[in-house]
Amino acid sequence: MFTKTLAQQNKTKISTLPPDLFESIETLKKELNAVILAHYYQEPDIQDIADIIGDSLQLAKAAANTDADVIVFAGVHFMAETAKILNPDKLVLLPDANAGCSLADSCQPSEFASFRAAHPDHLVVSYINCSAEIKAMSDIICTSSNAVKIIEQIPESQPIIFAPDKNLGQYVMRQTGRQILLWQGSCIVHETFSEKKITQLKVKHPEAEVIAHPECEEAVLCNADYIGSTAALINYCQQSSVKEFIVATEPGIIHQMHKLEPSKTFIPAPPNNNNCDCNECPFMRLNTLEKLYLAIKNRNPVITMAENIRLAALLPI
Ligand code: 13P
Ligand code: SF4
Repeated sequence: MFTKTLAQQNKTKISTLPPDLFESIETLKKELNAVILAHYYQEPDIQDIADIIGDSLQLAKAAANTDADVIVFAGVHFMAETAKILNPDKLVLLPDANAGCSLADSCQPSEFASFRAAHPDHLVVSYINCSAEIKAMSDIICTSSNAVKIIEQIPESQPIIFAPDKNLGQYVMRQTGRQILLWQGSCIVHETFSEKKITQLKVKHPEAEVIAHPECEEAVLCNADYIGSTAALINYCQQSSVKEFIVATEPGIIHQMHKLEPSKTFIPAPPNNNNCDCNECPFMRLNTLEKLYLAIKNRNPVITMAENIRLAALLPI
């Protein structure tokens, strides 16, 4: 039997792409009544063609309010899944089906079910970076932009489990003074930043402020002048009179920062290991403009889920 080599397969794929991807995507979008939602960690081309760019909360709200028939989610699987939970009748597409999330993967349903069962009196607050199955086992879903506010609204006497991110959980504990039982998950990208490297950068750039995502470890957050969700970090850079920032989150965010504040300098916090691009999310970066075009053209990869899971996941959202 004739089997195509990888090079031949790639050649076929590339030859099926139109010369102007931006124009072709726009045309397909109109034909399908599709909307493109993109996270700030996506590559610049995808951010530029997106109808809406945002953090997890903004994108979930956009997905809830859209009147488009097709949602193309340029982000990772849990984000597209959230869009599907909110829009069961719409077609939700993810440019690369393998765009997962190390944090979501660090909380597997069977293990979490046992953990939850061992603490039946606890209220389960889960960060949106988790699978639909984990959402279905949760009482409340939060994002990095509302986690502190949500915990503050829960009565002091109510014991809480927070999952899956231990770093965001510890940050919430420090901000609220609450004792919370934490699931020990984390993000490989945000754990790559080192306090030592950031301190060395601060010496080189004494005027710069350090801004960090709360998924970073405590040692990094202790050195931050401002901590917030991706949208909050962008907003802070716009409001601040400071001209230079060391950015401790995925560097895809710097594209928007540059666009909004071209006269300011944004320095990506380096990874701990000099020999890798570990500060770039390997899952977010699986999506490309080419895959986005093919996803709309072929209406695939499609996000699907069992209706009982969807309904259970919808409640805490
Ligand atoms: P935000 O909600 O702050 O955009 O965070 C999403 C994320 O995956 C961070 O790693
Ligand atoms: Fe998941 Fe981390 Fe990538 Fe965000 S940066 S999508 S938490 S792996």
